Amino acid sequence: MKKIKVSVIGATGYAGKELVKILMNHQGVELIHLISSSYAGKNIVEIFPEFLNKLDKKLINFNLDVVSQDSNLVFTALPHTVSMDVVPELLKKGVKVIDLSADYRIKDPAVYKEWYEKEHNQINKGLLSEAVYGLPEIYLDKIKDALLVANPGCYPTSIILGIAPLLKHHFVEPEGIIIDSKSGASGAGKKLSLGLHFAECNENFKAYNIIRHNHIPEIEQELSSIYFNENTHKQKQQETEIKVSFTPHLLPINRGILSTCYLALKESKEEEEVLEIYQKFYQKAPFVRIFKPPNLPEIKFVTGTNYCDIGFTIDERVGKIKVISVIDNLLKGAAGQAVQNMNIMSGFPETCGLV
Ligand SMILES: NC(=O)c1ccc[n+]([C@@H]2O[C@H](COP(=O)([O-])OP(=O)(O)OC[C@H]3O[C@@H](n4cnc5c(N)ncnc54)[C@H](OP(=O)(O)O)[C@@H]3O)[C@@H](O)[C@H]2O)c1
Repeated sequence: MKKIKVSVIGATGYAGKELVKILMNHQGVELIHLISSSYAGKNIVEIFPEFLNKLDKKLINFNLDVVSQDSNLVFTALPHTVSMDVVPELLKKGVKVIDLSADYRIKDPAVYKEWYEKEHNQINKGLLSEAVYGLPEIYLDKIKDALLVANPGCYPTSIILGIAPLLKHHFVEPEGIIIDSKSGASGAGKKLSLGLHFAECNENFKAYNIIRHNHIPEIEQELSSIYFNENTHKQKQQETEIKVSFTPHLLPINRGILSTCYLALKESKEEEEVLEIYQKFYQKAPFVRIFKPPNLPEIKFVTGTNYCDIGFTIDERVGKIKVISVIDNLLKGAAGQAVQNMNIMSGFPETCGLV
């Protein structure tokens, strides 16, 4: 296999570290630069002792010329509103980019500004239409030729994969969708915050940001485009927007997301028929597993893997279908999915380096 040269910006963050762990064992990758502003000059083993005898590499400060000259592809695992300063420079130098932040996921810059409180400059506004939303199960063909991939958020990945077949086949009403998601504490990244201290999370379970979480516009954008058909949707954005009622919760575990989605069936359906459309929709998707009712997925089935496991139950009494979808937020929700995208962009088998 011909190797590509890959660097990671934000290599000491939660998602960045997972990227390094996958890439250092990936047979198609030569891991070149690991970039950190806080730990530049230190060896990665000084920050993560578990890399001893596995990876011997110095972290460096970001230098555009050095990074772009030495790399074919760069992962930017930076906070949102930070990536947008780096990504256009890398692209201008001819480097492919997979950005793990939200900066290129939202197609409408006004919507991004509303939810992330920062405005894109003209160059970045132009890049929004070029960026491919990196959900391989939906956008495989576009990802193959992408120069910039906007890697999806963790909650959106679990939700969109969980209900896409129902929306695509118009089995469910686009109105009144309710989503309850529960995430482990690593979903918030490594920055310190009181609500994430051990004594606050442990033996606790709570809802947060219950009407305004910044993953909402991304979820609504993608569900709308699946239900209404991408092209029609672009023309009629306003009147065809799906709105969801989304409540995130913090679970007292390190990693993993479980999303429960409640949707109204347009007409009564047999479980076999629903199972069949899920199986068909994901027949070529190596990382999506569909559970046959009454089996339901659990977080521990996917921890440490790139799988999204999906199960459902039809609640005939109330005319609803309940879908349960689980992922590891740091893998299928971040680094694993990013490597899946790299594999597709580089002509490697989609599953290369991933479990
Ligand atoms: N955690 C998840 O489950 C998850 C899932 C999906 C997507 N994401 C997205 O992936 C990106 C990285 O997430 P993460 O969880 O790995 O975050 P994180 O743990 O906070 O790491 C972000 C890294 O970015 C670097 N950085 C550079 N400039 C920075 C700045 N101005 N402010 C803060 N950090 C800066 C930091 O490393 P240095 O200080 O060493 O430079 C830090 O380690 C985010 O956009 C996040 O939304 C995360």
